[in-house]
Amino acid sequence: MAALLTVVAATALLWAGALLVRWAARYLHFRRLEQAIPGPKSLPVLGNLLDLAKVGEDDRLTALLSIAGGRTELSRASVGTRMMVVVSDPDHVAVVLRDPRFADKSDVFYNYLEKVCGPGLLTTNGGHWKRHRAVIRPAFHPSVIDEYVPVFAEEAEALTVALRTATASALTRALTRASLRTVMAADVHEDDEPDLEVIIREMGGRLRDVNERMFRPWLWPDAAFAVSSMGKRLGSFNKVCADLGGRILGRIRGRLHSGEVQTVSLDGVSSKRRTFAEILAESEFTDAEILTEGKTLFGASVETNVTTIKFVLKVLSVKPDIQDRVHRELRSVLGDDMSLTADQVNSLPYLEAVVLETLRLLPSFPLMARTVREETQLGGRTLPADAMLLINVFGLHRDPGSFPDPLRFEPGRFLAEAAAGERHPYSFIPFSAGPRSCIGKRYGMHAVKTVLAAVLRAFRVDPVDDGHLEPAEFPVTFHLALHMVGGVSVKLTPRDRSRGSI
Ligand code: HEM
Repeated sequence: MAALLTVVAATALLWAGALLVRWAARYLHFRRLEQAIPGPKSLPVLGNLLDLAKVGEDDRLTALLSIAGGRTELSRASVGTRMMVVVSDPDHVAVVLRDPRFADKSDVFYNYLEKVCGPGLLTTNGGHWKRHRAVIRPAFHPSVIDEYVPVFAEEAEALTVALRTATASALTRALTRASLRTVMAADVHEDDEPDLEVIIREMGGRLRDVNERMFRPWLWPDAAFAVSSMGKRLGSFNKVCADLGGRILGRIRGRLHSGEVQTVSLDGVSSKRRTFAEILAESEFTDAEILTEGKTLFGASVETNVTTIKFVLKVLSVKPDIQDRVHRELRSVLGDDMSLTADQVNSLPYLEAVVLETLRLLPSFPLMARTVREETQLGGRTLPADAMLLINVFGLHRDPGSFPDPLRFEPGRFLAEAAAGERHPYSFIPFSAGPRSCIGKRYGMHAVKTVLAAVLRAFRVDPVDDGHLEPAEFPVTFHLALHMVGGVSVKLTPRDRSRGSI
């Protein structure tokens, strides 16, 4: 018996020794690659874990950007044997966004996002993503999106009324309803309202939790997350979304069955084309897949549109001359007519330039993440397997090599004649670029411009007394999308009568 125990113990020791030697060989290889790429001082084994763990919620973007420390060459930080590589040079970004070696979204970040949206277009990879993108693409045809403008305009009108009594979530409510009515082709019924209110109130918080989880390693395992308060909150939120989505899909199927959809696809707006929800309802997708993609598009559209509109209003509050010029353009193109057509939305070049310049300095996604599956080369460096690439959109957009006087807010950069210049095609990527670029770019720009047109015609936007007067210096952080630390506040004064605010 004793002999047997000795053999077992010796075998276990040998195994442990072999594992340790293997781990050490791998780690030393990793460490060599790590030290060959510039970056902040990193401790053996722990890497930069201690520095990153100290970072508070409001400083996360600054902390991640500081890995690059203003360099445009590749820079890195590590946690154990996971390397984060910040990519800031437009040539390198072009390779990352086009080359299949870098096509996969990063597991750390996007896996957590997937717990909110489900495995949809934004988070999945490979064949699954390709098949879904092909099925969904026709729903984003420009002619489909142009037909959504009256719905955006109607919700924007309701928003300008709500803003007079300063309701806190008015903007999110307007865009949530617009997104449901367009993406899901759903008219909002009375019995949907309670679920909708929960979604309006909680969507931002659940997306913020995605970020929180990234910075709390003890919540990385799914089992630990599921029993945490964050996991439970997400569970209840997902149930509300599933209930509402199920009812909406049931109604769409009912309409398709009765043939009603042949003539009317959006309430009040006749359409010859199928909307997103109808295209999917008639595709090979299962109900679960349709609901997942619906939620993905819904989340991707509301969060980005809301933050973009808020930032534009904040910028215009501190740039009165630019606001006056936007207002003059709106008066000359739209006159007193409060309804808006797609042609008119497409004829507001200065407003569009203001939105693009806002997205340059304050991009909705300041960082985008990809995973390197196998050891590979980029920009003359060797990246280890499992490295996470952080595409530094924020830094690219403020690079003086691409944008002279980069910290100045100057919409003129995006007016047709100026934009036709020699800018690197990957130096300005607020909607990403390449095969995984934003499928909702036209939808987003139409929705943002329509809402801004309505709000800016109804209200004058003035600054609050928070001392933030330069857009390039607004204190920002990211909870999935870019946010202003402390939230965005402006004063709204109705151009006709009484006062209001958001
Ligand atoms: C101002 C508005 C918007 C901005 C700035 C924006 C920006 C972006 C960016 C940067 C990406 C790439 C993300 C990554 O690679 O990690 C992206 C992807 C995506 N966006 Fe948008 N977006 C906007 C509006 C919308 C809207 C309105 C929708 C849907 C109706 C939408 C749906 C999506 C989807 C589904 C993807 C994933 C595409 C794929 O991987 O195939 N976005 N967006």
